[in-house]
Amino acid sequence: MVRFSERANSIRPTGVRRMFDMAFDMAGDDAVQFGLGEPDFQPPSVAIEAFTRAMNEGKNKYTTTAGLPALRQKIAETWHHRIPDLDESNVCITMSGTNGLLDIFLALVGPGDNVLIPEPYFPLYPPDVVICGGDPNLYPCTFENDFVPTIDDLESRVDDNTVAILYNFPSNPTGGNVTEAQRDELIAFASDHDLWLITDEVYDRIVYDGPHVSFLGAGYDKVIMVQSFSKTFAMTGWRIGYILSPDMDAMAQLTKMQYYVTACSNDAMQYAVLEALERAPEYPEEMCAEFKARRNLICERLNAMPGVSCHVPTGAFYVFPKVDVPGMNSEEIAMALLEGGVLCSPGTSFGAAGEGHLRFAYTIGREDIARGMDRVEAVLAGLRGD
Ligand SMILES: Cc1ncc(COP(=O)(O)O)c(C=O)c1O
Repeated sequence: MVRFSERANSIRPTGVRRMFDMAFDMAGDDAVQFGLGEPDFQPPSVAIEAFTRAMNEGKNKYTTTAGLPALRQKIAETWHHRIPDLDESNVCITMSGTNGLLDIFLALVGPGDNVLIPEPYFPLYPPDVVICGGDPNLYPCTFENDFVPTIDDLESRVDDNTVAILYNFPSNPTGGNVTEAQRDELIAFASDHDLWLITDEVYDRIVYDGPHVSFLGAGYDKVIMVQSFSKTFAMTGWRIGYILSPDMDAMAQLTKMQYYVTACSNDAMQYAVLEALERAPEYPEEMCAEFKARRNLICERLNAMPGVSCHVPTGAFYVFPKVDVPGMNSEEIAMALLEGGVLCSPGTSFGAAGEGHLRFAYTIGREDIARGMDRVEAVLAGLRGD
């Protein structure tokens, strides 16, 4: 008999990927793709050039586990406005945010422990906690509360076995974001319960209507930030990110986990990212201007449709509208849209609390967004009998 671990048997592939794979079978190339969250831009050309140059110069070897000191120092400096004395020892380069998240959960979570995780969630969080032997302890981020948790909801879930709380602002999938006052309340909750605060800020450079509100340097040092260059420099396929903490004990444990997960990150690519940080620092803002125009377009179109209600997000590149078609759940609506040539994700791909919602990633051009929205409008009108 073929046996697999309980951990492998207890987790399932994500719904987002399932829809994406199905879309190609069903709708082919003509489908308008609001499915996967990756920028439709290419990395800055200076980074691509630096990558090939570094390879040609022989930078094709293992690096130290935490990564290239010059890159780590540069990253630390990008956060000096939050914590002035950060340096390279506070940063460990990872092979993506995904890699960083696993390092963090491996370092913090064991059997019997639970981690407070937002729901709707980025689909990796709960399985990662399970892989580490712990229990995801889901807290709601509701449409009614602008996708920000209430302290009451957190208080009613935290218990003696809670070791950490994860916040993700700007959020995937909701686009939810916090004000400074909300951030301070959420930090006070973590502090009151002496929890590790894991802050996933991979969308920190994709914010529209004001500066990014970081959980770093906000008066609580038991904090670990997970970061990625996937969205910041449109390099999802390069697989590079980092973890950062002002807590040196945490850094030692995290770096140890990083060693056992991938030993180190990619040598030449670290030079490429350093070049991007030094020579294309304005690149994310340029991308962001386009995302903002798309956000305005998609929100306007969705909010004009009967039965649809959409918050205007202030960060990331997702909208998570409430879509009401009597008698149909979000998966059925997403399937009907797929048949109508539009790929989006049912809200339940991000946890049961996503029921009643769809997620659209506006990572396609404005013309495609408009074409997709025409289709959504027609399909929903047909389903609702409007
Ligand atoms: C909230 C969030 N965290 C982390 C990641 C991981 O990013 P990557 O593994 O590409 O660095 C993603 C990717 O979509 C995300 O949306």
